[in-house]
Amino acid sequence: MLGPVLNYEETRGLVDALTTKHPNLGLIVVREQRSDLEDWVDELSLHAVLNPDATDETTVGLLDRLASWLIAHGHAETHDFDAPLALEIDDLPFVSTAPVTQEAAPDPADEGAFGTDQEVEIEAPTWEFPPLEAGTATEAIAVVAPKGGQGKTTIAINLATGLAEVAPNSVVLVDADLQFGDITVALALQPEKTIVDAVADAAIDELVLKTTLTHHVDGFFVVASAPSPELGDQVAPAALAELITRLRSTFRYVVIDTTPGLGEHTLVTLEHVTDAVFVTNMGVPSLRATRTEFELLTKLGLMPGNRHVVVNQVDKNSGLTIKDVEKIIGAPVDIEMPKSSAVLLASNRGVPLIHDDVRDPAAKAIRSIVLRIAPEAFPKRSKIQRRRRSNESE
Ligand SMILES: Nc1ncnc2c1ncn2[C@@H]1O[C@H](COP(=O)(O)OP(=O)(O)O)[C@@H](O)[C@H]1O
Ligand SMILES: [Mg+2]
Repeated sequence: MLGPVLNYEETRGLVDALTTKHPNLGLIVVREQRSDLEDWVDELSLHAVLNPDATDETTVGLLDRLASWLIAHGHAETHDFDAPLALEIDDLPFVSTAPVTQEAAPDPADEGAFGTDQEVEIEAPTWEFPPLEAGTATEAIAVVAPKGGQGKTTIAINLATGLAEVAPNSVVLVDADLQFGDITVALALQPEKTIVDAVADAAIDELVLKTTLTHHVDGFFVVASAPSPELGDQVAPAALAELITRLRSTFRYVVIDTTPGLGEHTLVTLEHVTDAVFVTNMGVPSLRATRTEFELLTKLGLMPGNRHVVVNQVDKNSGLTIKDVEKIIGAPVDIEMPKSSAVLLASNRGVPLIHDDVRDPAAKAIRSIVLRIAPEAFPKRSKIQRRRRSNESE
């Protein structure tokens, strides 16, 4: 059984290798069964596809049928299936799919193997801060939602990733969800400095500010969230505004993930951005809250120049159509982002979704947000994809 943490390329590689080496093996891919995934499933020599949410009963039933099929076709003997499945997870050969972070420091425990006298060569970073050409109009994009859990962080991360294809290393992603920021977790980064350092007096100096950033291999920088909610609370709204302004003088794009609701920090953020991405799911409470948010921002004169309305986790069974949604929020919907299990998988793997599962419909929805902000984003996409993948396997 393969998956569901494996993406298309990994699954395909394993299926090809296993069917060549062990033609007698029964192969099941565990992954969502959706019509848009049928063609890639069709390309593989599989016995079955199993939904990750399948009950134990369905799973055992499928295994029984596969066993009977293997026996009937002479690939196995009845007694091969006599022994009960007594393997513990720890006994299984394990292929790690954990992402490797580029700047990971050498583990001191590994040094013994080379002897302690030997010098450990530390690779210099392969990135640099490209200078902004004079007169370049920089853009700042806030991702906001009236409530938590709507998909702000998912969108902010993937927006930064997509924009970094257009402006490599000239994108910074600010985790301004001051209490519960989780961007570095979702990207498997280990930040040395956080937003607390980035707003400190010393960071008025541009060079010092740059040392508070954490680099991501996909070509962008992250201002990590505060190490604790208490420290996050100490970041003053004015300091956050100042940080955004300073980052805008160095980076082509500044993407800001915000605290849910319209607290002081989020209001001040909206005052300093060119674009706002409003995220809501299809729940009526969230839609009503979005409407209230729009009305309030319009009244305060704080609606940013470019507004992008994203309805996330679009579900045909919600009882609402997009027309209903537009009526409730009192504004047109710009992007419909479908519900997809690839979102959680990418986040658990610590990889941006748009690079983890290129064909995923939620990833495609995020690409269309990128395109609204950077219309030049699309043409190079497939080339960049291939280059990234070949780098990874080096
Ligand atoms: N389109 C989607 N399909 C499925 N799950 C999603 C989708 N968007 C977000 N999620 C999941 O919903 C949860 C909340 O998303 P997150 O981006 O952390 O929201 P927020 O930052 O607004 O709290 C996460 O577990 C995420 O994986
Ligand atoms: Mg979040």
